[in-house]
Amino acid sequence: MAKAKTYYFCQECGYQSSSWIGRCPECGKFGTFVEEVVTATPAGKAKSKGKSDSAPKRIQEVTYSETKRIATHCGEFDRVLGGGIVPGSLLLLGGEPGIGKSTLLLQTALAIHDRRLLYVSGEESEQQIKMRADRIGISTEECFVVSETVTQRIFEHVEAVQPDLLIVDSIQTISTEEVDSPAGSVSQIRQCTGEFQHYAKSTGVPVLLIGHITKDGTLAGPKVMEHIVDAVLQFEGDRNYGYRILRALKNRFGSTAEIGIFEMQGSGLREVPNPSEFLLGQRDETLSGAAVAATLEGARPMFIEVQSLVSSAVYGTPQRNANGFDMRRLSMLLAVLEKRCGFKLGAKDVFLNIAGGLRVSDPAIDLAVACAVLSSNVDIPVSPRVCFAAELGLSGEVRPVSRVEQRVAEANRLGFERIFISKYNARELDRGRYSLDIVPVSVIEEAFRTLFA
Ligand code: TYD
Ligand code: MG
Repeated sequence: MAKAKTYYFCQECGYQSSSWIGRCPECGKFGTFVEEVVTATPAGKAKSKGKSDSAPKRIQEVTYSETKRIATHCGEFDRVLGGGIVPGSLLLLGGEPGIGKSTLLLQTALAIHDRRLLYVSGEESEQQIKMRADRIGISTEECFVVSETVTQRIFEHVEAVQPDLLIVDSIQTISTEEVDSPAGSVSQIRQCTGEFQHYAKSTGVPVLLIGHITKDGTLAGPKVMEHIVDAVLQFEGDRNYGYRILRALKNRFGSTAEIGIFEMQGSGLREVPNPSEFLLGQRDETLSGAAVAATLEGARPMFIEVQSLVSSAVYGTPQRNANGFDMRRLSMLLAVLEKRCGFKLGAKDVFLNIAGGLRVSDPAIDLAVACAVLSSNVDIPVSPRVCFAAELGLSGEVRPVSRVEQRVAEANRLGFERIFISKYNARELDRGRYSLDIVPVSVIEEAFRTLFA
């Protein structure tokens, strides 16, 4: 019989210690240590008794049957996964409460009508799941649901149903009899994830786990989980907007650059294959402070409106506020504008907002941010039929961006009349192919003069 032992675990990163510590030496957080009793024989030890049934092979000798991914019948989901779910994989879907994780996976489960699925919920009753399914409005013969929280029981249900895909909502509500601490604690999460991983790898049935996210946006507790699972997907979005973005933070079977975009509607999530048309809201041509950026998310062009407000500082220290854009980058761009274009932004409050509650990391948004700020500062509007795709350097130079043809072609398709790009990018373009006007610029002053002079 294994002895019960008490350990202290950091609930942020899973760091284990034999005594309580105030500050985690691993992640540096304060007051995150919680006492947990671990009864089980340490995972792996019990199983590793006896002879191993694996043996090292030459890499040429390793064979695998052409792994057929399970298509989810949801274009956006497949895109993020890199073309469907790989057999035997363990996936984690994280997101804030109420963002739509359960909806996304239930909807996916219902749409995969050619496979047998088991949806295990530790949070909702079967009736509640059925109500949600009715709301989504897809019906299938092959989707089984059960409300259960103990892994040993779950595997009994799995034995009975023999699913082709297992969905578990959520890992924080599931516990195993092997560990004696409450559900949601680090040692429970670690052990349960390990059990699901063992199941997935030994049977080839993929397992999709839902995980909650803490207030500061990290996956609650199980940093340890991120190493175990094959892919970490994050579902995010502003709850006040209808958009939801699915990102892969880690993906052993595909790119992490792709994103999937959804819209939450009354009857579940709708895929948004063409985000630009959706993100460019109706805009009044006479209002200053807005500019459209031609950004790329993964392989997909996304045209986003950047809005800015520059006003005289009311208090001694001017305020800077950015929504969906890195604050430090904004400060840098403002410093560049101050130095190179001679604007006295130092005495102004500057607010910046990326429309639609999106978060953009593509540096090609820089020029649009600078032009939105300048437009608000001089109070002259930028035409909604003009867009921008360039990065700004510290000396005010307009720098080239990747895959400019794709951005220009999309701008052309969306009916923009002008696009501002770096002159280095313009050289490589065949301008005759597009009906829109391509404006090459080399420094920010040039863009400013062309737009506002
Ligand atoms: P849910 O999937 O329960 O979120 P999570 O599992 O991430 O906590 O979704 C919660 C929200 O989605 C809820 O506020 C209601 C909304 N919703 C819709 O707007 N339309 C729908 O069809 C469904 C099922 C939910
Ligand atoms: Mg849920």
